Amino acid sequence: MYTTLLTHNDNGIFTITINRPEKLNALNGQVIAELEAVMHEVYTNPSIKSVLLTGAGEKSFVAGADISEFIGAGSAGGKTLARRGQDLFFKIENCPKVVIACVNGFALGGGCELAMACHFRLASENAKFGQPEVNLGIMPGYGGTQRLVQLIGKGRALELMLTGGMIDASAAFASGLVNHVVVPDQLLTKAKEIATLIQSKAPVAVAKCIEAANAVYNEALNGYETELNAFSACFDTTDMVEGTTAFLEKRKPVFTGK
Ligand code: COA
Repeated sequence: MYTTLLTHNDNGIFTITINRPEKLNALNGQVIAELEAVMHEVYTNPSIKSVLLTGAGEKSFVAGADISEFIGAGSAGGKTLARRGQDLFFKIENCPKVVIACVNGFALGGGCELAMACHFRLASENAKFGQPEVNLGIMPGYGGTQRLVQLIGKGRALELMLTGGMIDASAAFASGLVNHVVVPDQLLTKAKEIATLIQSKAPVAVAKCIEAANAVYNEALNGYETELNAFSACFDTTDMVEGTTAFLEKRKPVFTGK
């Protein structure tokens, strides 16, 4: 069904692998279109409970937008590219099911931006992060200027963006860009462990946590008001009744997502 993505559903954990290893999984128009389609699948398929996003091969998560498609775009073309990338990454960021980036090598430019649009990130020891767009005479355009500042602070973010350099996995961990650093062959195992734990929680409560956390960075919303509404919506769920009753009855809850 997809030509540039591999997908696999293992007990609700849906792994999406960007599969252009010969181009270090660079995001060309085809990959972007298929990521749009796969996110529609994630939103609408109830058998998908959580998502892991990674890159094929041992070298790269995603080495950026496909530079060969930039030539001759002009400012209007640049705006179209950025708008499409931003819209796709908003879809990932606002996904009600958890999306975890498993960064298995280079996460550069659009690749770093893609990882940052995910809810959190795990990295293998060989991962490298950067926003090298200034080396090409451009700048991050898929939300990177905003999310990098949000995640690691303005000073560190601007140093990375302005120098066009890279940081390794341990520096990414120290700056809060990634939550865990593991040996390469443990990357998906560790991510699956975390996804399994999250899948055992009430799905509406998980979705509402994501919605409220995202509201922090949305100037159109009042985060506390969003939290209030999200909190109260949980009280309308049967999972809330199940969770609280199970606690009082000293048993494990069985959540249904309702
Ligand atoms: N767009 C298009 N093609 C890319 C790419 C990108 N962002 N990143 C890598 N590739 C391609 C290379 O052109 C090369 O293709 P070829 O074999 O047909 O020549 C292939 O992927 C392998 O990359 P290569 O540069 O030979 O690997 P390397 O190990 O020497 O270097 C990088 C790895 C990541 C340091 C280097 O590929 C790089 O700097 N990539 C661009 C990163 C970037 O600027 N991203 C932001 C884009 S906005």
